[in-house]
Amino acid sequence: MISVILLAAGQGKRLGFKKQFVKLGGKPLYMHSLEKVLGIFDEVILVLPKEDLGRVELPTGVKKVAGGEERQDSVLEGLLEAKGDIVIIHDCARPFATTEMFRKVAQLEGVEGKITAIPVRDTIKQVSEGMVIKTLDRSALWHAQTPQGFIKKVLLECHFRARNEGVVATDDSALLERYGYKVGVVMGSPLNIKITYPEDLDLAKQLCAVCNP
Ligand code: CTP
Ligand code: MG
Repeated sequence: MISVILLAAGQGKRLGFKKQFVKLGGKPLYMHSLEKVLGIFDEVILVLPKEDLGRVELPTGVKKVAGGEERQDSVLEGLLEAKGDIVIIHDCARPFATTEMFRKVAQLEGVEGKITAIPVRDTIKQVSEGMVIKTLDRSALWHAQTPQGFIKKVLLECHFRARNEGVVATDDSALLERYGYKVGVVMGSPLNIKITYPEDLDLAKQLCAVCNP
């Protein structure tokens, strides 16, 4: 059984407001991710800010869960509700992830986790105080994205260990890496952008207009 945990419990501090409720192509941002997975996977859990739980109307079959302070806390809240032996974690801040990406990261033969990622395209410089220190070898560097799929038992164990040790990571894969588990990679997409700053939202609106004219 596969559970999908959609994260939408952030505060959008860098954007200036809660991006998950912003309208993109006529529907709230979180709905874009929801529509890619609803009716396809066995269970869909949407993690929302505690204060918004009561005011969000969802299609039947979607379970609402209150998130926590940090992203990692919200993942754990979702995990504790998930029934699947495989879980897929996705940031609703990435509205252009495809159903195919969700399907691919759930294939976990020989690994405990699998992430979407894309190879770094630009030349990457290490910079300090406005000066270039050196050029990094980009051939081994990838941009991590979501969705990311995991064996639930392993991800839960990693989250509990991280909480006990006070470890905070920016994605779930980082926790598996830390504790010695194997994480595979499947190709994401440059279009699978994450809305973080106002200019990302402008870009997303333009992409949306091109994709759904
Ligand atoms: N997220 C969450 N719970 C949190 C923090 C983040 O569910 N306590 C979710 C966000 O809703 C988002 C994803 O994790 O879908 C990635 O987080 P980010 O882009 O950092 O969103 P925000 O935390 O909302 O933005 P900011 O960091 O600027 O406040
Ligand atoms: Mg954040």
